[in-house]
Amino acid sequence: MNYDEFTVEIKKLCDIDLSNYKEKQMKRRIDSLIKRNGHESYDSYLTQLKKSEQHLKEFLGYITINVSEFFRNPAQWQILEQELIPELISRKNTLKIWSSACSTGEEPYSLVMLLDKMGLINRASIIASDIDEEALEQARIGIYTSKGIANVPEEMVKANFIKENDNYVIKDKIKKAVDFKIINLLEDPFPSNCDLILCRNVMIYFTEKAKEKLYKKFYNALSDNGIFFVGSTEQIMMPQKYGFISRKHFFYQKIVGGNK
Ligand SMILES: C[S@@+](CC[C@H](N)C(=O)[O-])C[C@H]1O[C@@H](n2cnc3c(N)ncnc32)[C@H](O)[C@@H]1O
Repeated sequence: MNYDEFTVEIKKLCDIDLSNYKEKQMKRRIDSLIKRNGHESYDSYLTQLKKSEQHLKEFLGYITINVSEFFRNPAQWQILEQELIPELISRKNTLKIWSSACSTGEEPYSLVMLLDKMGLINRASIIASDIDEEALEQARIGIYTSKGIANVPEEMVKANFIKENDNYVIKDKIKKAVDFKIINLLEDPFPSNCDLILCRNVMIYFTEKAKEKLYKKFYNALSDNGIFFVGSTEQIMMPQKYGFISRKHFFYQKIVGGNK
């Protein structure tokens, strides 16, 4: 069995279409995981994945790459706080926000902490989703190490976490504001009418074709003039093609009727 055949089997086994992910990068990761597990072929590794739930979990955890941070790229969060959220809330009474590859929760919790600081926590609903069930479970639990919260300003740590031994537990008030769910960006329907969508540090793993499809889906998921926030290596080439204008680096705004 070659890599392409392996991807077809994985799609059948767990409904993840690896052909949407950049092949060179993904193949390198999978090949090294296979070796690490003592296998020499895709066939024998696949047999193990089919037999062992634990190995399947390890495989899924490994390919999804869950690295995240609170307030990742702080300068961009400042733009959200000082310019874009005030502008969005001036147009509407309540905001619908979607963190679309939320991993272990740092991104949606950063949002809620920011909204709380701005006095807007009761005027926003936040959906946070990921393909990885285990990452979502960790997000729901909301326990982080001191290294994990290094980017969180001191006053926000005090206001939003409870220190338990060496860990920091996110307070219920923040946790309750987030609705966590599984959404596979490449397969599942998207929420609608979102005023702000974050899709950060996941598109880099997708092929150009998959990205084009996703930009269109994100356009349709946004409310009129809604904002699309991407990762710091994920600028959209020719945003107008997908109905967006660039607002600031890494922030795009939906142009009404712009996808024609
Ligand atoms: C590097 S993390 C990014 C976390 C966060 N957005 C950030 O920027 O810190 C990438 C996340 O994308 C998720 N992911 C990968 N493929 C996905 C897909 N097809 N649908 C939804 N999430 C996906 C992974 O499970 C992982 O949690």
